[in-house]
Amino acid sequence: MNILHLSFSPRGPDSESHRLALRIIEHLQRAHPTAARVERALGTDAPPPIDGAHATALGAAQASPAEASNAGTLSFSETLISELERADVVVIATPMHNFSVPAALKAWIDHIVRVRRSFDVGPQGKLGRLRDRPVLVAVSSGGAFSGERARQPDFLTPYLRAVLAVIGLRDVTFFTVEGTGGGAEAVAQARARAERALQAHFDAI
Ligand SMILES: Cc1cc2nc3c(=O)[nH]c(=O)nc-3n(C[C@H](O)[C@H](O)[C@H](O)COP(=O)(O)O)c2cc1C
Repeated sequence: MNILHLSFSPRGPDSESHRLALRIIEHLQRAHPTAARVERALGTDAPPPIDGAHATALGAAQASPAEASNAGTLSFSETLISELERADVVVIATPMHNFSVPAALKAWIDHIVRVRRSFDVGPQGKLGRLRDRPVLVAVSSGGAFSGERARQPDFLTPYLRAVLAVIGLRDVTFFTVEGTGGGAEAVAQARARAERALQAHFDAI
């Protein structure tokens, strides 16, 4: 089994979302001891924004020579999509930034959600081309965004669910450590809640 581990916190290995993702991976490796892991730290080394050649190629009605030759940042898109295709399980570690995904994760999405490559457009709308596989998302946030304690909107989890569904990834599960801005006791409680959710998830599969 191949685990693709993508981290999007600018705080790298010190980040709470990375910590939670490592707990997810421990559970996965317990269930699949021979599982291989490929890690990409994209929060500290963000994908480049889509460039002009890339955007022009995708805006054309049909595949153009620029698209066929992976002009500009299309070559980077190809690398990231191929990596995703090789994975059996995807683990995404991300903080919440301004109620949504951080810029580095949005950049990754712009590379992997690509017309004529990871999805097609037909009369019914967009149709994913990728084989479905589990996507386990570790989210960390300074305040609460779910449950009764939430005092802010959540554009992160519905957006990620919707945009991954476009390319065919519908088996998406979120684990969260919410309220990291509340001090050590709040973090300890949030981590304990996340541990219980993880245990329940892996007990059930
Ligand atoms: C630019 C920026 C924007 C943030 N926006 C939010 C937000 O909208 N809601 C929230 O609860 N926390 C917000 N935070 C706090 C982080 O989500 C929080 O510190 C989180 O635990 C960081 O996770 P990490 O350690 O994985 O990077 C923001 C932090 C930064 C740096």
